[in-house]
Amino acid sequence: MAEDDLVIRVRGLKNSFGEQVVHEGLDLDVRRGEILGVVGGSGTGKSVLMRSIIGLQVPDEGEITVFGEPTIDLEENQATEIRKRWGVLFQGGALFSTLTVAENVEVPIKEFYPELDATLLDEIASYKVVMTGLPPDAGPKYPAELSGGMRKRAGLARALALDPELLFLDEPTAGLDPIGAAAFDELTLSLQRTMGLTVFLITHDLDSLYAICDRVAVLADKKVIAVGTIDELIALDHPWIEEYFKGPRGRAAVATQEAGTGKAGAD
Ligand SMILES: Nc1ncnc2c1ncn2[C@@H]1O[C@H](COP(=O)(O)OP(=O)(O)O)[C@@H](O)[C@H]1O
Ligand SMILES: [Mg+2]
Repeated sequence: MAEDDLVIRVRGLKNSFGEQVVHEGLDLDVRRGEILGVVGGSGTGKSVLMRSIIGLQVPDEGEITVFGEPTIDLEENQATEIRKRWGVLFQGGALFSTLTVAENVEVPIKEFYPELDATLLDEIASYKVVMTGLPPDAGPKYPAELSGGMRKRAGLARALALDPELLFLDEPTAGLDPIGAAAFDELTLSLQRTMGLTVFLITHDLDSLYAICDRVAVLADKKVIAVGTIDELIALDHPWIEEYFKGPRGRAAVATQEAGTGKAGAD
């Protein structure tokens, strides 16, 4: 794989909080145009990894490049240039509750393009709202007036506000019912295809892994212990991977996929 096909490259990452070492010697590559699933037990450092990649958490050691540019210790203007090129849906996906959906979507646009006039901002926000499958009248609503699934879509609309090349999603389907989660997966896949996105998807949801991920990275023992297709991972002899994919939830996900509601292999 040519280096310029790597959208994210992490080498020798170390993160710690006081005495607690979260990552040590962590390496990871994310390829252009793929949906990479990131899994691992609770507290293994999935969110911290994402925060390190986007420059919100300064690591103790290691190298991180995104689009070939280092993201650690960037100058302010370099940071702005690179942050325009990615969108982030944080865990919990918190929208600003005092802003409407459309105003939420406008937040990153105003931050990076303060010169845009209100009419254009409105147009861009309406377009993003519809693009994420929300009804057009969702724009003027407040987050509290929306269902959980609609709030996730609004968060996604905000993450896509700047037409990013790279999308970070931290547990986007957590808290949704299976139908809502499958619909969100479908949306992620279709946006990834139409916009040519690279997606870094942290998830607990085995259905999502089967349905939309090209490869899956497994976090355990403070590092990425394996990356590959689900079949490749299952062929490895690792107790956590074995338990995760072959345990009851893993079997249920396979059954869902085989019943034709999953989307794996649709390409
Ligand atoms: N800002 C912080 N300060 C102290 N400890 C933190 C901080 N952020 C995360 N941690 C700790 O780092 C570990 C990994 O957290 P996190 O990345 O959120 O896990 P997860 O894999 O569930 O997303 C946890 O033990 C968490 O308590
Ligand atoms: Mg997390």
